[in-house]
Amino acid sequence: MSEQSPVKQQGDALENLLHERRSFPPSADFAANAVAQQAVYDEAAAEGPEFWARQARSLLTWDEDFTETLDWSDAPFAKWFGGGKINAAYNALDRHVEAGRGDRMALYFEGEPGDTRTYTYAQLTEEVKKAANAFETLGVSKGDRVAVYLPMIPEAVITMLACARIGAVHSVVFGGFSADALRNRIDDAEAKLVVTADGSYRRGKPTALKPAVDESLAQEGHTVTSVVVVKRNGEPVQWTEGRDIWWDDAVGTASAEHTAVGHDSEHPLFILYTSGTTGKPKGILHTTGGYLAQTAFTHLNTFDLKPETDVYWCTADIGWVTGHSYVTYAPLVNGATQLIYEGTPDTPHQGRWWELVEKYKVSILYTAPTAIRTCMKWGRDIPGKFNLDSIRVLGSVGEPINPEAWMWYRTVIGSNGGKKEVPAPIVDTWWQTETGAHMIAPMPGVTATKPGSAQVAVPGISIDVVDEMGESVPDGSGGFLVIKEPWPAMLRGIWGDPERFKATYWSRFDNMYFAGDGAKKDEDGDIWLLGRVDDVMNVSGHRLSTTEIESALVSHPSVAEAAVVGATDETTGEAVVAFVILRGSAKDDDDIVTTLRNHVGKEIGPIAKPRHILVVPELPKTRSGKIMRRLLKDVAEGREAGDSSTLADNTVMQQIAESMRK
Ligand code: WTA
Repeated sequence: MSEQSPVKQQGDALENLLHERRSFPPSADFAANAVAQQAVYDEAAAEGPEFWARQARSLLTWDEDFTETLDWSDAPFAKWFGGGKINAAYNALDRHVEAGRGDRMALYFEGEPGDTRTYTYAQLTEEVKKAANAFETLGVSKGDRVAVYLPMIPEAVITMLACARIGAVHSVVFGGFSADALRNRIDDAEAKLVVTADGSYRRGKPTALKPAVDESLAQEGHTVTSVVVVKRNGEPVQWTEGRDIWWDDAVGTASAEHTAVGHDSEHPLFILYTSGTTGKPKGILHTTGGYLAQTAFTHLNTFDLKPETDVYWCTADIGWVTGHSYVTYAPLVNGATQLIYEGTPDTPHQGRWWELVEKYKVSILYTAPTAIRTCMKWGRDIPGKFNLDSIRVLGSVGEPINPEAWMWYRTVIGSNGGKKEVPAPIVDTWWQTETGAHMIAPMPGVTATKPGSAQVAVPGISIDVVDEMGESVPDGSGGFLVIKEPWPAMLRGIWGDPERFKATYWSRFDNMYFAGDGAKKDEDGDIWLLGRVDDVMNVSGHRLSTTEIESALVSHPSVAEAAVVGATDETTGEAVVAFVILRGSAKDDDDIVTTLRNHVGKEIGPIAKPRHILVVPELPKTRSGKIMRRLLKDVAEGREAGDSSTLADNTVMQQIAESMRK
């Protein structure tokens, strides 16, 4: 925990938000035709957990109906829909085909170089059945873990669903993580199979994945018996006979007959590693029935999904939870048509996303504030060249969206450059890897939206903002965001570490889940998210841990000590800034900065490389030895350092300032 109150910590940002008074009610037409009406809030309030039982039965197909909605007797370990049996892949695929929707488009895929592929529900079902057979042939069975290290290509979705089908637990590792980070995750989950690709395309260039897998498995002592390799960019790869097999040889030749059997509602669906406040990433565990119910419900209601007519596009990579819940699972469970795109928004030109919106007539777009701010920087003329008339709902996720970015999103993207009389509503969705699905979000046909606020709890979810003592704060005040009742898509624990699960989320306040975010209730009781109050940074919507980067830095022989802070950045939200003390023999020059940046890239991955590394003679510490990151943040953001009276040595900030001037 930081020593400051979340409200003070946010300073100017909060001041600006407090003056934000605009509000945009839904148009009469949108409200009348919306999936979610006021009634859904009333029903959820009246029914309690049974509300979720009703959603689970109406949105999902169960092999065996459940007998108990919620078992909270072993809190904080929840069991939802006990006695029920369900198959996630069957729900995402086969049942649509059986219901005569096999010809509906499931996936439009566009590669960065412009290559395209399409899969109807029938075709995607067939591919997943083949992959399921192939993985079983390689010895993967129910409960085994499969590491997935793939780019944003259809095989990523197919692999995840094939695992779910056979009851294997996938652990997707973002392609931007290094060989070392991949190996740590493989070891922690004891994965049997790795599914990867030769590489991918990024910014017009082929990038490699398979070499990182080879490097990560080079050292003995791992549990991997097979590596399935998708041929994506044709770059040469090394081959380990007996271990490596091409996707086309394994899956291409497999039978397309595969019957999905129901797994227990609480059967593990996936592990996804995320950064916490300590150095070691946490394997967040999600299970099947509750997760599917809440992701499907929120996808349908928050985005006002009309599966027959909408084209949905979520720009998140499958390496993050958004790519799990709102690319692989919910859209397919809901029978939607979606677009997936492999590359970057500016390749080959800065209008690529908008060109895709026009080409595929995307009607629901779900992206992150950092991307919106980047497009703002490039200028409105770029989206202005494309027809964005198809867009009718816009979503935001990953970090607080500042009101300017929100208004730009609305007027430039949601109004087709001002040509549309009624702009598309924006839904700002707050949630986490741990929550599995949206927790706070407007309902676009009900809520009058406010620029910069996620506003209201999803129906059936109990959210509050509390003070240090865990007391609910009055409207108009700030505090800590908590969740007060168990929810269906909640994490079921941290892989292999139940104590850490309790300590991390359930020990700060009695009987409440502590999210790690600061928040404020405005005069109407609407919730504004204010960013993390712990040692987790949010860079371009990606979670990074200060401690994890600090331990990467001190693992280098030249570094004696390191402190990392997230400095406010106009585009990426936060940027990683590191302060290091070098060992006696190490030289302070440009080379050392480059060396250390690369070292972090190797230890964790390119996304974690600090934007700036500052070599300093000392770090500011309290008498109990705790680094005062707040003061370093002041320096990193170019401010006069704040109150340093609690420092053990109060000349330290002066020494740092002097070393900055050198
Ligand atoms: C932040 C991403 C403000 C928050 C789905 C949370 C947000 C962390 C929002 C989780 C939002 C996510 N407004 N902040 N709409 N959405 N966050 O696990 O700090 O990658 O705790 O999940 O992102 O990040 P994660």
